Amino acid sequence: MTDYNLMIRQFRELAKDTSDPVSIMANTSALIFYSMSDLNWAGFYVVRGDELLVGPFQGKVACAVIKKGRGVCGTAWEKDELQLVPDVHAFPGHIACDCDSNSEIVVPIHHDSKVCAVLDIDSPVPGRFTEEDATGLSELVRALEEVL
Ligand code: SME
Repeated sequence: MTDYNLMIRQFRELAKDTSDPVSIMANTSALIFYSMSDLNWAGFYVVRGDELLVGPFQGKVACAVIKKGRGVCGTAWEKDELQLVPDVHAFPGHIACDCDSNSEIVVPIHHDSKVCAVLDIDSPVPGRFTEEDATGLSELVRALEEVL
């Protein structure tokens, strides 16, 4: 089980050193990847015009561009809603960047009340993510929004 209080404290320490969004997202992706069990990808897609572009991440090479409303990430952006997907193969339009992924969680990130990026985390374990993860990662994203 992930210790989200610890993760958020560590995040706040990391974010003290810089206000640069790329640096913060890079360290945050590593923090998540090495704090949570059974992950194969953790990172960010950032809004650029009407597309998402891949940002800092840990894991295998991923698709660079995702259209609004496409896949789990594009759906989280379009609906501005966290997506907790126990079985990615059952998600209509899921984009298979890494064929190891079986479950996924995507959390929208806001700047000036608009989605500016999404946090995307994938696992090879079906049903890996719980409501507790959704709550903990939403808290982490709120802390991230304070510094972006
Ligand atoms: N599976 C995502 C695409 C990004 S990769 O998981 C890194 C999606 O359907 O949006």
